[in-house]
Amino acid sequence: MEKENIYILGIESSCDDTSAAVLCNDSILSNVVADQKIHSEYGGVVPELASRAHQQNIVPVVHQALKKANIEKEQLSAIAFTRGPGLMGSLLVGTSFAKSLAYGLDIPLIDVNHMQAHILAHFIDEEDHNKPPFPFLAMTISGGHTQIVKVNDYFNMEVLGETIDDAVGEAYDKSGKILGLGYPAGPEIDRRAQLGNPKAYKFTKPKVDGLNFSFSGLKTAILYFVQREVKANPNFIEENLNDICASIQYTIIGILMDKLKLAVKQTEIKYIAIGGGVSANSGIRKALKDGEQKFGWITYIPKFEYTTDNAAMIAIVGYLKYLKKDFSDFDVMATARLKI
Ligand code: KG4
Ligand code: ZN
Repeated sequence: MEKENIYILGIESSCDDTSAAVLCNDSILSNVVADQKIHSEYGGVVPELASRAHQQNIVPVVHQALKKANIEKEQLSAIAFTRGPGLMGSLLVGTSFAKSLAYGLDIPLIDVNHMQAHILAHFIDEEDHNKPPFPFLAMTISGGHTQIVKVNDYFNMEVLGETIDDAVGEAYDKSGKILGLGYPAGPEIDRRAQLGNPKAYKFTKPKVDGLNFSFSGLKTAILYFVQREVKANPNFIEENLNDICASIQYTIIGILMDKLKLAVKQTEIKYIAIGGGVSANSGIRKALKDGEQKFGWITYIPKFEYTTDNAAMIAIVGYLKYLKKDFSDFDVMATARLKI
């Protein structure tokens, strides 16, 4: 007998993107993301505005995801949603919506940990993407998170290290703000970094034990450096922007690579998967490729649309949990500080 297809609707609303995706088994049928432009006016995500925008977006986004997937909601096998971590107001919108729809359709509800989802996005079936073998190391780098995780199995993960203050994407965005760049500043710093001299200016790397990270000191060092130079030459930023960006990027990539090398040394695992918005960065991609040549690493970089916050990654976790019949009770609560 032919196996029945499993259709999962995934819903992601943990930060500033409202997203819905439909999966047939481990293949994507649709992945719709509505990003919230409103926050760029404020140079960062404003939680209250994010929840309101989620409320406006969620119905049309889910509609579009079903339409693109060309399926009726009655065909869905289960609904997976982000339970946490994230902004409470934003999480509540997705959680309440997912509960109501699953209840109305009388199908299982599946809660998903956003950080697990960034990692398990590597298990979405894609033609040009190999799935990492267990155990592997996952480094999640985004505007909200910086973590190195040892992944023993789909749902057996150990956090080896994480940031004790800012996330790496925040370091990019805050540096960009100091330099007068728009939000988010990561892509612009990355673009300019490729045109500048990475050794033009030296910023000291933070001293944090083990596999934890710290980025708030770097931001302060950049602020003082820029203030000092601008005092001497009011045009300092404009005249040296590419070199400043290249030097910031060089420092950040250095911090990430030092920790990754240490994680490989400690675990003796050479399979490395990355995820999160910052994995779009050209510097980190190049550094990982160099790691393949120099240290024999085998690296996995997901397709761009699965690195930033998206519901396809939520739906793949939903599918993997569906196979284990790991369903949620309807009294499950959104949890802002959910651990892996
Ligand atoms: O994963 P994401 O879309 O949202 C969060 O969960 O935070 O990541 C957004 C972050 C922003 O901080 C943005 O500046 C950064 O990713 N980013 C980059 C690049 N593209 C996006 N940082 C460095 N280089 C890039 N090319
Ligand atoms: Zn994320």
